[in-house]
Amino acid sequence: MEMNNNSSTWGRFLFLSIVFSIFFVDGQSQNLVNGKKIFETRCLVCHQADGGGVPNMNAPLDASTNVVGKDIARLVYIVKNGLNERVALDGMYYSNAMTANPDFTDQQIADVLSYVRTSWSNKASKVTLAQVQAANSKNKIKTKK
Ligand code: HEC
Repeated sequence: MEMNNNSSTWGRFLFLSIVFSIFFVDGQSQNLVNGKKIFETRCLVCHQADGGGVPNMNAPLDASTNVVGKDIARLVYIVKNGLNERVALDGMYYSNAMTANPDFTDQQIADVLSYVRTSWSNKASKVTLAQVQAANSKNKIKTKK
């Protein structure tokens, strides 16, 4: 009797653990799956499938110190507003201008940045929705005239 109770408790625990881990693992990878899709439709044309960019035209995202760096607010700003600074990125200049993506939701920005920060040789942390929201308020203050 006692044996049975123990094993059914154990069984229930095991079942719930499996359900939760499937849910959790799937939730974790889902934003990389979405990020990849966004990258392929909106970024790949310039930054290329391998993230290598095009020399002198489009900046590489693979192995860029900015892309894997700590300044998430800057990355969010660039994805939203584009970039035409013509400043040296890792010692190189890029003649193309990056187009803005004003239609992206905060979640889409988090997903695509998570994808580029963890793809190719990049091994940085993913970007959460909360980090994008924090970046938005930081960027708003910075760009206020
Ligand atoms: C029309 C071409 C084009 C498209 C499309 C494009 N980019 Fe860019 N991207 C560029 C160029 C060019 C630069 C460098 C601009 C400069 O130097 O002023 C750049 C720079 C960047 C940077 C800064 C890199 C660094 O080292 O600081 C990031 C991050 C970035 N792009 C991400 C993205 C993401 C994510 C997408 C898709 C949502 C995207 N780009 C779509 C052309 C593009």
